[in-house]
Amino acid sequence: MKEMSKEILFSRDAIQKRVQELAGQISGDYAGGELVVIGILKGAFIFMADLVREIGIPCKIDFVRVASYGASSESSGKVVMTKDIETSIKGRDILIVEDIVDTGLTLQYLVDWLKERNPHSLKICVFLDKRKRRKVSFEADYVGFTIDDGFVVGYGLDFNEQYRFFPDVYVIEQ
Ligand code: IMP
Repeated sequence: MKEMSKEILFSRDAIQKRVQELAGQISGDYAGGELVVIGILKGAFIFMADLVREIGIPCKIDFVRVASYGASSESSGKVVMTKDIETSIKGRDILIVEDIVDTGLTLQYLVDWLKERNPHSLKICVFLDKRKRRKVSFEADYVGFTIDDGFVVGYGLDFNEQYRFFPDVYVIEQ
């Protein structure tokens, strides 16, 4: 693997602690209920796996995959669904789990897509929030960490399909 210049942003210990806090908050908000947790592939797979194991309420699991065309480090604005959910969500409480929200275009598209299926409720949990780079007004309901501009990898997040497997999160120099 080509050497890259990287700086640690969140250690695995800090991530684990924050995931437990988020899960506690979610469990409290949905106490006595049941969730359908929908992860956005591929970036959310590690965060979602950790999160659902900490949430103390029953959940069904599904995934979507969306493609956003343009440069590898930025959404172009054209978002397309490439894998839909296989679970009926009508009348259900839905939690979308995403690795990072940047411009907000991906999540806005997905929320509109899923709302057409008439869920009872729909909330969004993101591991990272690059709040300053929004192109659309969008707020997640649960946020792991808010970060400044800069490209991050690890804990599921990639750069050109590399570095997803890193247990810690790094900012990379491109
Ligand atoms: P948005 O549509 O601009 O909000 O983009 C969200 C998607 O862009 C995420 O699901 C990631 O795939 C990708 N992305 C944005 N910023 C980063 C980053 O810093 N590292 C890795 N992927 C990123």
